[in-house]
Amino acid sequence: MKLVFATNNIHKIKEVQNLVSKEIEIVSLADINCVEEIPETGSTIESNASEKAFYVYNKYGINCFADDTGLEIDALDGRPGVYSARYAGESCNFENNITKVLSEMSGIENRKACFRTVISLIIAGKEIQFEGIVEGVILNERHGDKGFGYDSVFKPNGYNETFAEMPLEIKNSISHRYRAVQKLKEYLSLLKST
Ligand code: IMP
Repeated sequence: MKLVFATNNIHKIKEVQNLVSKEIEIVSLADINCVEEIPETGSTIESNASEKAFYVYNKYGINCFADDTGLEIDALDGRPGVYSARYAGESCNFENNITKVLSEMSGIENRKACFRTVISLIIAGKEIQFEGIVEGVILNERHGDKGFGYDSVFKPNGYNETFAEMPLEIKNSISHRYRAVQKLKEYLSLLKST
């Protein structure tokens, strides 16, 4: 089976291809000549994942899946959430997104947060979603220089290091994305055996 992963992030493609059976070929947007920007207008992580996956399915007619991730902070009522990528505004980057989060969290005792990934899979026009969550806390300052996004301020529960301090293999074996992909993998392997 061929499945489009609605992304051009080669790391994500490799990560997923390594996890799913070799009988499932994961291809990127570039592989199907989809070069346009895919709309992401949803107000929830679920609706964004869904929008991206349906866009590709409806336009290209190939079974596909899309993911969307957000950092949800309890004390900020779930923000930055669906707006994680552009929290500090249109011309933002990872650094000023973190700065905004740290300043909003300044003096706040409840540091609980989670990363949440939703994968939306569309097969023959039918959608099913899978969720992966990793819980942790937001630190008061940055620690570590690995990873990306909010990794340097997020410490997963049960670990003494932030995502940006731990080896990538460890992060990738406990992450929100990994957990969502595991569910996708289980579903695909069930499909194969029916
Ligand atoms: P996306 O849906 O995978 O593009 O993720 C949206 C945004 O969430 C990214 O731009 C990052 O700011 C943040 N994010 C997603 N995954 C991670 C992660 O594993 N670590 C840190 N930040 C992440």
